[in-house]
Amino acid sequence: MPQVIAMAGKGGTGKTTTTALLARYLLQKKMTPLLLVDADANANLNELLGVEVGLTLGAIRKELKGELPVGMTRDQFMELKIHQALIEESGFDLLVMGQPDGPGCYCAANQYLAMTMDRLADNYRYIIVDNEAGMEHLSRMNLRAIDYLFITSDPSARGILTARRIADISAPLGLTVRHQYLLVNRAPQPVPELLLEKINRAVAETGMTLGGIIPSSSELIHQELSGASCLDLGDDTEIIQTVTAIFDTIFADDRP
Ligand SMILES: Nc1ncnc2c1ncn2[C@@H]1O[C@H](COP(=O)(O)OP(=O)(O)OP(=O)(O)O)[C@@H](O)[C@H]1O
Ligand SMILES: [Mg+2]
Repeated sequence: MPQVIAMAGKGGTGKTTTTALLARYLLQKKMTPLLLVDADANANLNELLGVEVGLTLGAIRKELKGELPVGMTRDQFMELKIHQALIEESGFDLLVMGQPDGPGCYCAANQYLAMTMDRLADNYRYIIVDNEAGMEHLSRMNLRAIDYLFITSDPSARGILTARRIADISAPLGLTVRHQYLLVNRAPQPVPELLLEKINRAVAETGMTLGGIIPSSSELIHQELSGASCLDLGDDTEIIQTVTAIFDTIFADDRP
């Protein structure tokens, strides 16, 4: 059974960046095979990985509603298409969800999708799902059990409050979460005392553990502006050293 890792958090707080940095970590530690799922309708994880996107699951769902090739069952067709949509790189595969169903959702197609995804999942050691802001998406995706939920926050009072709200809604949404980590991203250095107090209170009063505080990184800003892949950031960069220490602690029991 693969370990399911999901990202949540207010818009623009670093879900996609964290996904790419965690992918880099797992690849480097050979904690593979790894499946990355871009569940954001406005997909952009591929850019941080230096990968081009072709067929998306949204497009497959549309094709399923139309005529199928003669002699092919819906199941076979679906399986074939999912494999076409799977972007295979060394050590990881990327699947892009694309646009969700509009009004008049074709539920059978979604069911086939979920079934095929289930079958596919067994091929991986880790699955990381990069989401858009909001948790509803996770419950809609048929993801019921999450092993690691990372909740990203910006270094603000409102950011931490939103993270707390996200931590509080996973149970009502019917999601089982094994570990829940708060990641405070783009923090100024030194971290303001008042922010630390808010973080400590959030951790004490919710089911979240503090995963780490990630400083604002000029390396990430440069990577984003130049369009380079996060996978190519050097081991000696500050950002990689920071997140490696964080993930080493979180995945201590999983590492080879
Ligand atoms: N620690 C950091 N230091 C500097 N820049 C960062 C850091 N983390 C993220 N960024 C930048 O902040 C922006 C938003 O990050 P990102 O796209 O990862 O957020 P997101 O939560 O995925 O956003 P969305 O909700 O739109 O999907 C990006 O331009 C990214 O390069
Ligand atoms: Mg994103």
